Amino acid sequence: MLTNKKILLCVTGGIAAFKAAALTSKLVQQGAEVKVILSKAGAEFVTPLTFQALSQNETYTDTFDERAPEKITHIGLADWADLVLVAPATANTIGKLANGIADNLLTTTILATKAPVFIATAMNSNMIENKAVLRNLATLVRDGYHLLDADAGYLACGYTGKGRMQEPEEIIAKLAAFSGATDAVLTGKKLLITAGPTIEKLDPVRYLSNFSSGKMGYALAGQAVQMGAEVVLVSGPVNMDPPAGVQLIQVMSAADMHQAVMKHYHACDCAIASAAVADYTPIYHAEKIKKRDEELLVQLNKTTDILLAMGQAKTKQYLVGFAAETENVAENAIGKLEKKHADMLIANDVTKAGAGFGTDTNIVTIYQREADPLSLPLMTKTAVANEILQIIARRLR
Ligand code: PMT
Repeated sequence: MLTNKKILLCVTGGIAAFKAAALTSKLVQQGAEVKVILSKAGAEFVTPLTFQALSQNETYTDTFDERAPEKITHIGLADWADLVLVAPATANTIGKLANGIADNLLTTTILATKAPVFIATAMNSNMIENKAVLRNLATLVRDGYHLLDADAGYLACGYTGKGRMQEPEEIIAKLAAFSGATDAVLTGKKLLITAGPTIEKLDPVRYLSNFSSGKMGYALAGQAVQMGAEVVLVSGPVNMDPPAGVQLIQVMSAADMHQAVMKHYHACDCAIASAAVADYTPIYHAEKIKKRDEELLVQLNKTTDILLAMGQAKTKQYLVGFAAETENVAENAIGKLEKKHADMLIANDVTKAGAGFGTDTNIVTIYQREADPLSLPLMTKTAVANEILQIIARRLR
């Protein structure tokens, strides 16, 4: 999956830089094209010549070493890369990236790239547990960087604990899995995805809704298009532009969403219900409800359960639901998987920091009929979407 992938390896100044040499060689053996940027400190550990020989490409160290007048080096490298890997990533470079500091070729290039950036941490165990480092890592994850968290074991400084850079084979497997995710594994498949909240009107000026931003559903839609799928995105009101290439159908209420979904359901190969649909809707008052002295009781009627309706109308579709839970997560998720005739149910405990509504990240467990539950760590919603769609692609095949 790494064949012909252009990988920019950024090596910073830690003892694990010696592993970056093996990493370069193994990436080249996998068919990747590798270019290396060494920080000044990185070059104290392993020489540019080593990386040049192993990558069979020029190695870069100095911001002002401009080799071709037609292209500024850091912009050229930033645009060239399909994927950027910082390995090893020291506390110093992590701190700079988390704060947008660009004071050398390596950090300047990373700030300029649009490619996904992986951070393979490596440092002393006390340093990796330092509050500032943890804060900076959390910032990077929130900003969309992919963390390859250090392993525990014997460290070069003599400590035993967390801080060892992941082994080259482990890193390569993760890059390959990620790259595979963006390959066209859903070509020819039609996906129907729901996203965002619904709005249930009470009167001309008031409504009931929830905190869904649409980020999870839009990430799924965007990644599915990247993987070659034809995507119909049925979305409640959100403040986001739709991903390029999707067919967007905007709706307001649960009833509107139900109608739009059922119109497109029969033609789809897979439906993913990530929308936070209202379970109840108030009886609509045509005139604004006036304030009175006494309490106001509002009657709520049940909405149609769209996921259940899809489950009952299933012919060939692979059906995926979500579950936003605050307690008994596993029990409730498995209950919904069964009750709604879904094939996969993705549970997020929305009480956890970094999970659920409005965030750029999520923490999910994937329940499937044919497999054990798969719990994923804190990841960007894009990375979560990739994991989910990879499984769906396998099931559809
Ligand atoms: O949009 P974000 O800010 O990124 O937040 C993402 C999210 C938290 C909304 C998302 O990850 C999520 O959990 N979506 C499902 C929210 C939800 O409504 O969960 P639920 O447990 O109430 O519903 C279970 C399933 O039934 C869901 O697939 C839901 O879409 C579906 N449902 C619910 C009610 C209803 N009337 N019709 C439905 O189809």
